[in-house]
Amino acid sequence: MNGPPIRVCFVCLGNICRSPTAEGVMRHLVDAADLAGRIEIDSAGTGAYHVGEPPDRRSAAAGRRRGIMLDGASRQFRRADFDRFDLVVAMDRENEAHLLALAPDEESRSRVHLLRSFHGRSLAAGDLDVPDPYYGGGDGFELVLDIVEDGCRALLAHLHEEHLSA
Ligand code: 4NP
Repeated sequence: MNGPPIRVCFVCLGNICRSPTAEGVMRHLVDAADLAGRIEIDSAGTGAYHVGEPPDRRSAAAGRRRGIMLDGASRQFRRADFDRFDLVVAMDRENEAHLLALAPDEESRSRVHLLRSFHGRSLAAGDLDVPDPYYGGGDGFELVLDIVEDGCRALLAHLHEEHLSA
């Protein structure tokens, strides 16, 4: 089946660590599945602290070790972005709360999801977050990649089931 592309935006706080990682991982999976024409991917931050900056070098290095390239420049997620995306995928519950407060209407709020909510298995409340690695050590960036890879695989399976099958 062909149709308009599904537009997905990953959102974290700074748009330099977690959401660019999710964008890079998802693009890798989508390219491997030959779905680049069907799924459009972007990322943004709820905060404006790092606008214009490239992905954090620690995130970029962790991605590179797994063959995932991170690129783009940080930008802030705006209310008008709700018109541009079918799915707005938050990295943690704080990002989710911010997006829900920013959303102009109920329909927009229904587009907001937590990345880890796409897992089939049930998670404890604390496990719904992709932990913020910014002020931590190197292990945090590997953990982000582990969680984001699982989450993006689950998200792609969800898109197959809900949006891409005839
Ligand atoms: P991110 O990480 O939200 O995964 O991009 C952060 C980057 C910067 C800051 C916090 C989190 N900061 O406070 O500047």
